[in-house]
Amino acid sequence: MNASMPIGVFDSGIGGLSVLQALQKELPHERFVYLADNAHAPYGEKSEAFIRERTHAIADYLLGQHHIKALVVACNTATAAAIHELRARHPALPLVGLEPALKPALALSRTRRIGVMATRGTVASDKFARLLASVQTEAHFEVQACNGLALAIEQSTLPDQAEAAQAQIAHLLQTYIQAMGRFGCATGDIDTLVLGCTHYVFVENDLRQLLGPHVQLVSTGEPVARQTHRLLAAAVLLKPEMTDMTAQPMRLLTTGDLQGLQAAAQRWLGLHPEVCETVPASLG
Ligand code: DGL
Repeated sequence: MNASMPIGVFDSGIGGLSVLQALQKELPHERFVYLADNAHAPYGEKSEAFIRERTHAIADYLLGQHHIKALVVACNTATAAAIHELRARHPALPLVGLEPALKPALALSRTRRIGVMATRGTVASDKFARLLASVQTEAHFEVQACNGLALAIEQSTLPDQAEAAQAQIAHLLQTYIQAMGRFGCATGDIDTLVLGCTHYVFVENDLRQLLGPHVQLVSTGEPVARQTHRLLAAAVLLKPEMTDMTAQPMRLLTTGDLQGLQAAAQRWLGLHPEVCETVPASLG
């Protein structure tokens, strides 16, 4: 491993681009290879065994074909299912996972009522149960599994599906927010909402409209980027600022639909469609 190698980042689809955005801001001199496993998205409603299998295949592929020096699992669902096994398999690899930001939310909430939106897979995982148990005495957490939401967000980037997907997003957000209870800043209101899936960051504006200006939305992109920075520094793997940038700084790969990734990369990161490419779904 050496400092000029890229950092690997992956998610089931485009959600992890919200993390990539924060990583690029925190580490502007680094090179990144992002893999969107669109052929197998969404992960949130699949079995843990399946997600573990995909996670290992992706890690092996990024290490073997792209020679990454660190890996960011930009997916709460894959982290919950597979991060322990990944750490055991790759003990020398700097590895960063994501979990719903319950602890940061505790520091922000005044009403001590906190909403958590995440995929079914994350909510049902042992890892999440342990995390929740560690904070449950300090506040009330209203946890909502948001089936279908990550998929609708994926579909909203595809031109021919965008309109129907937007309507579905609006419907799902309304339903899930209502199911969690009353939001606001009065006693008994939920005043803080944790976005426990990287896809949900891309519907922050829609959530803001539903919840009003006083509810705090908490996501994990920035703390994860800072943690990645710390790990690379500790391993002496930070790319020196002055090294040549002729090597492509950003490569985005998808096992699925190229157009969707290109549209999302352009819309949210201002990236040219040419940085996106398709790879075989088998990663073989
Ligand atoms: N973006 C992912 C997460 O953070 C997974 C969404 C999905 O594929 O269901 O959980």
